[in-house]
Amino acid sequence: MRYSSAIIALAAPLVAYAAPARFYGKRAASDVLVFKFADVLEQLESTFYQQAIAKFKDTDFTSAGFPSSQIPIEQFTSIQADEASHSSALQAALKSFGETPITSCQFNFDSALTDVATMAATARVVETVGVAAYLGGATLLTDPVLLTAAGSILTVEARHQTILNVLSSGGTAIPAAFDMAFTPSEVLAIASPFISGCQIPIPANPTLSVTNTGTVAPGTLLTFKADSLNGTIPDSSLFCQMLVGGAPMSIPLPLSQCVVPAGINGPVALFITSDGQPLINNVRDRATNKLVAGPTLAFVDTKPQMLGQIARSSSGSGSNAQSSTSTQTISPAEASSIISSANGAATATAAAASASSTSASVSGTSGGPNTFVGKSPDGKITVKGWTGL
Ligand SMILES: *[C@@H]1O[C@H](CO)[C@@H](O)[C@H](O)[C@H]1NC(C)=O
Repeated sequence: MRYSSAIIALAAPLVAYAAPARFYGKRAASDVLVFKFADVLEQLESTFYQQAIAKFKDTDFTSAGFPSSQIPIEQFTSIQADEASHSSALQAALKSFGETPITSCQFNFDSALTDVATMAATARVVETVGVAAYLGGATLLTDPVLLTAAGSILTVEARHQTILNVLSSGGTAIPAAFDMAFTPSEVLAIASPFISGCQIPIPANPTLSVTNTGTVAPGTLLTFKADSLNGTIPDSSLFCQMLVGGAPMSIPLPLSQCVVPAGINGPVALFITSDGQPLINNVRDRATNKLVAGPTLAFVDTKPQMLGQIARSSSGSGSNAQSSTSTQTISPAEASSIISSANGAATATAAAASASSTSASVSGTSGGPNTFVGKSPDGKITVKGWTGL
């Protein structure tokens, strides 16, 4: 009994948050848009976990390598409840502004729910995108009170993301010191394939997918699929751009040499652009006029931790446990050379300028950031690189 008043006191701010009176009144259009968009993403997340929990049996989880199905099911159930609460709170706030939430979206996750490994990997993407969406939305919110309210959701999304890292085999719980921010259009490049039946008043960037099967590791040559990669712009004049949290800008590489450099751990956002100018990390000012497709997300797990190994031991029958074969790779030593040289804005821009003046055959700039040029072991690709990290 002595706990009850404390619990009521703790619950009070939440009640106030959800209560219409708290936020009553007309709001700036961008504040309304961010809340509406965030609510759609929360509905997406909530539905994803609902469908995942309903679909998989205990044995699906154990044969995917979990020592007990209880480990993932407890977490997915708890995360699902959070996402549903976020959606309710955002909808209540929108109604208090005199706005109508977007509630007609349908979500289809058939492609992501084929097996537990794919589901867990998708959940990890979903939470990373959730964090990136709230961070990007922060630049669009004009009212600091709404910014704090959105921030109170963002921190919880980040906790979910950590749990999903632990539940994914090979993941680092907290892989990097900084997270990435996406614009709403960038978020939709990833989320829109799952959404239908509703009007979201934000244009989606063209969706991009990585076609590599197997684990993405330093040295992996990434290959892509997108409707906009259709020959209108020849592949030889396209660039892949890799953006990680905390970096001043993306790493641009010619599309045919899109090799994951060493030194990356955790999520990497991948874009295809029609020039080699790096994309800046500043989400508000990121120039996207040369964007062809993306972003999409890849996870590069280079620092597996014991915590994840305990949660996801492969002692089960394990047929769905991730294999770790990449199709085309260069050696880790070659990959580390890719990022061995200069960094910083000036050099990265110089690199981009140099890169955009070259096409299929690439040569290094002596003394510049492009000094690494090397063949992959199978001789099929020439690798050139530098670091923006
Ligand atoms: C082909 O790609 C271009 C952009 O690169 C895009 O504008 C165009 O709509 C695409 N065509 C098809 C049929 O997808």
